[in-house]
Amino acid sequence: MHPTTPHDSSPSTRSPGPSYHELLDRDTRPECVPLALRWRQWEPLGDHDLPAERYTDRAFHELEKERVWDRVWQMACREEHLPEVGDTYVYDICDRSYLLVRSAPDRISAFPNACLHRGRLLRERDGRVADLRCPFHGFCWHLDGSLKQVPSEWDFTHVRADEWSLPALRVGTWGGFVFVNPDPAAAPLEDFLGLLPEQFSSWPLERRYTAVHVARVVRANWKVTQEAFMEAFHVASTHPQLLPAIGDTNSQYDWSGNLSRAITPNGTPSPSLRGATDEQLVFDTMTGRRPGEPSLVALPDGTTARAAVAAGARARLARVIGADEAERLSDAELADSFYYTLFPNLHPWGAYNRITYRFRPFEDRHDTSVMECMFLDPYDPSQPRPAPAPVHWLEADQPWTDAPELGMLAQVFEQDMSNLRQVQRGLASLRKGVTLATYQETKVRHFHSVLDQWIARDPDHRR
Ligand code: FES
Ligand SMILES: [Fe+2]
Repeated sequence: MHPTTPHDSSPSTRSPGPSYHELLDRDTRPECVPLALRWRQWEPLGDHDLPAERYTDRAFHELEKERVWDRVWQMACREEHLPEVGDTYVYDICDRSYLLVRSAPDRISAFPNACLHRGRLLRERDGRVADLRCPFHGFCWHLDGSLKQVPSEWDFTHVRADEWSLPALRVGTWGGFVFVNPDPAAAPLEDFLGLLPEQFSSWPLERRYTAVHVARVVRANWKVTQEAFMEAFHVASTHPQLLPAIGDTNSQYDWSGNLSRAITPNGTPSPSLRGATDEQLVFDTMTGRRPGEPSLVALPDGTTARAAVAAGARARLARVIGADEAERLSDAELADSFYYTLFPNLHPWGAYNRITYRFRPFEDRHDTSVMECMFLDPYDPSQPRPAPAPVHWLEADQPWTDAPELGMLAQVFEQDMSNLRQVQRGLASLRKGVTLATYQETKVRHFHSVLDQWIARDPDHRR
């Protein structure tokens, strides 16, 4: 158990404007602020440049496959993808394919998605099955991976059933996510997660379901795409319309173990605007009013935009999670953005923001990635967990606005996408390394410092 205590380590310089802790102190319900939001942990991670080849070289992609993807705990799917015995889920990462199976009511198994006969994928898509039968010649396994049937058995006297179980991979769950690890020597998932379960103890993601799931192919290395969602530093230049209501440069960044976190306060104007706070403008920006349009709702006198937005969110949530639970939520939990990253690629957002991202290479490409946005919504706990939304795939260059289920976020993603292909192209011409901010790009730097450790591990010395 890791103690989550307020730990005040901060960078020596910071942006003007209120710190996140000052905003927490001004919460209309300061007593409701969970300890997780009081937690701070930041240590310098250096100021060295990152080699641009990390994003552009095929050889580095191959190294990531060998030293990271073949060894690390990685999110494969959600538990709601496998509600019943016999449900299967195909999880692909680079050139590997893994098959997840609900093999018993309380057990999820995972196997390399490969027939032991001549190697065909056992399954190409998700679905409920009675057993795992290879379509090519008909070899068949039970759901637990034990051999069930050999076609033309007389011709396979050399195949022994006790040696022909599908090799089981390590599986673990946290927060309703199902993780696999192809490395039999890996440390337990609990160790790998570190502070993550404790950070989410007030916001149990296992009590959510996948209400929206959109995946888009992006013409950039998976790390280029991922790193566009790890800081608020780009907001002023890429999303200027958000500035009246976002404390971009007042964001707080923390890291510990395999985890990093950013907190970006909302309902507070960007220090870059340098103007007096107009709470109505802040409120209008948060409620989606476009520039030039009249206010949708007049902010009551004496109410801050931040408190008003939180009150609206609290009332909406009360209808799903119950009034008692909703009343225990601070304004911060209802208004702000808490974006966590669990190395290497899972980005669950904290509190009652709906977002979880996952980033990975597209197929086995080092210059193309997949960005997934899932909305994890709470549901009435007296009812069974709803079925997950199917993945809505968008092609490379297809606008996010083709996924209207993302609401206002689709426009914001479009602005983010305008950079990614251009970063990938620019990196190929860059004659130096990538330079990062000391504080605001903490999450990017933290990711690379963990990546360095994995890349440096010599796989031959681990087994
Ligand atoms: S390859 Fe699977 S049965 Fe032949
Ligand atoms: Fe962005």
